[in-house]
Amino acid sequence: EKKRLLDKLGRPLRDLRISVTDRCNFRCSYCMPAEIFDKDFMFLPRNEVLTFEEITRLATLFVEAAGIKKLRITGGEPLVRKDLTRLIEMLSEVKGINDIAMTTNGSLLAKHAKDLKQAGLNRVTISLDSLDDERFRKINGRNIGVDQVFAGIEAAQAVGLGVKLNMVVQRGMNDEDIIPMVRHFKDTNIILRFIEFMDVGNSNGWKLDQVVSKKEIFDRINKEIPIEPVKPNYTGEVATRFRFKDNENEIGIISSVTDAFCSTCSRARLSADGKLVTCLFASEGHDLRDLLRSGASDEEVMDRMDAIWSGRHDRYSEERLNHTDKKQIRKIEMSHIGG
Ligand code: GTP
Ligand code: 5AD
Ligand code: SF4
Ligand code: SF4
Repeated sequence: EKKRLLDKLGRPLRDLRISVTDRCNFRCSYCMPAEIFDKDFMFLPRNEVLTFEEITRLATLFVEAAGIKKLRITGGEPLVRKDLTRLIEMLSEVKGINDIAMTTNGSLLAKHAKDLKQAGLNRVTISLDSLDDERFRKINGRNIGVDQVFAGIEAAQAVGLGVKLNMVVQRGMNDEDIIPMVRHFKDTNIILRFIEFMDVGNSNGWKLDQVVSKKEIFDRINKEIPIEPVKPNYTGEVATRFRFKDNENEIGIISSVTDAFCSTCSRARLSADGKLVTCLFASEGHDLRDLLRSGASDEEVMDRMDAIWSGRHDRYSEERLNHTDKKQIRKIEMSHIGG
C-alpha cells in the first residue's frame, strides 16, 4: 500500500487537476473578461509551459508519492493545446490512474472526441451557461453559438465518454436559465451541475449579491420539478447530489460560497507552468518546474511534493465571508488552474 500523505488538517491528496494551458478561445466574463484578457495580455511563453514529458513524470510521481488515482485535465481551454490527445495517451499509461477526466468549454470537442476516447480519456465536464443562443454568445465573449457546444456534447456521447455539464449561475445574468436547463437534460444521461458564482481570481468583479445560493437553486428547481437529496458518491465530492423524484437521473449543486466543502478537500492543482497550487484561491503556487529542470531525482521531487502537501492548511471557502470587508488578497487567476 502507498503511504497516505496528509495535510495539516488531516486531508489526504487524492485528486490532481492538471492545467495544460492558460489560454482559451472564450472570454467568459466571470473568468477571463475580454477587457483584461485582451490582445496585449501576456500569456505564458512556450518555454515556461510544462512539456508533456514533464507533466507525465509529475503525474507518475504523484501516484508514487500520494497514491492519487484520479486526474482531471483543465486549462484555460485544454483543447487549444496542440496534440493534447498525445498527452492523454501518455497519462493513460501511468500505472495507478483509473480515471482521467477533462474540463472543457466543448467548442472544439466535436473534432477531438473520438481520438480523446481512444487515447484513454474517460469523461468530460463541459461548461454550458445558457441554452439561449443570444445570451450564450454574450457570456462567452466570442460570439460562439450554443450549437457548437451541442455538437461537442453529442460527439462525446457518441464515442462513449461520460458527460457532465457545469453551469455557473449568476443572478441577473443567466439565473432564468436554471429551469430550462433542468428540463432540457432531465431525461438524458448527462449530469447537470449548478455552480455558485465564486470570487476566483482578481478580475471578475465578484459581488455576493450576484450569487444564487444552493438553497435558492434547490428551491427554484424543486418547486417546478421535485427533487430529493442523494448521498455523495465518495467523501469529499464537490457537488451535492439530488435525484428527480420521477426518474433515476440526478443533478448537482456546487456551493463553494454558501456551504463550503474545504473540510474534505483532497484536490491539488498543477498550473501549466508547473506550480503546485493547494487551493483554488491561493495567492501563489509552489514551483516544481525549476526542480524538474535542474535535474532533480524522483526522490527529490517526491520529497518536495510531500513537504508542500504536509504544510497545507488552506480552507478559503470556509473563511471567505470573514474576508470580504478586509483588503482583497491577491489570488491566482482561474484560467491558470482551470477551476
Ligand atoms: P467529478 O466528481 O470527478 O466529476 O468532478 P468534480 O465534481 O470535481 O467536477 P469539476 O472538476 O467539474 O468541478 C466543478 C467545479 O466546481 C469546478 O469547475 C470549480 O468551479 C468547482 N470546484 C471544484 N473543486 C473545487 C474546490 O476544491 N474548491 C472550490 N471552491 N470549488 C471547486
Ligand atoms: N465561479 C464559478 N465557477 C467558475 N468557473 C470559472 N470561473 C468561475 C467562477 N468565477 C467554472 C467554469 C467551468 C470551470 C472551469 O469552472 O464555468 O465549468
Ligand atoms: Fe475559458 Fe472556461 Fe474560463 Fe470560459 S470559464 S474563459 S471557457 S477557461
Ligand atoms: Fe479546497 Fe480551497 Fe476549494 Fe476549500 S476553497 S474546497 S480548500 S480548493
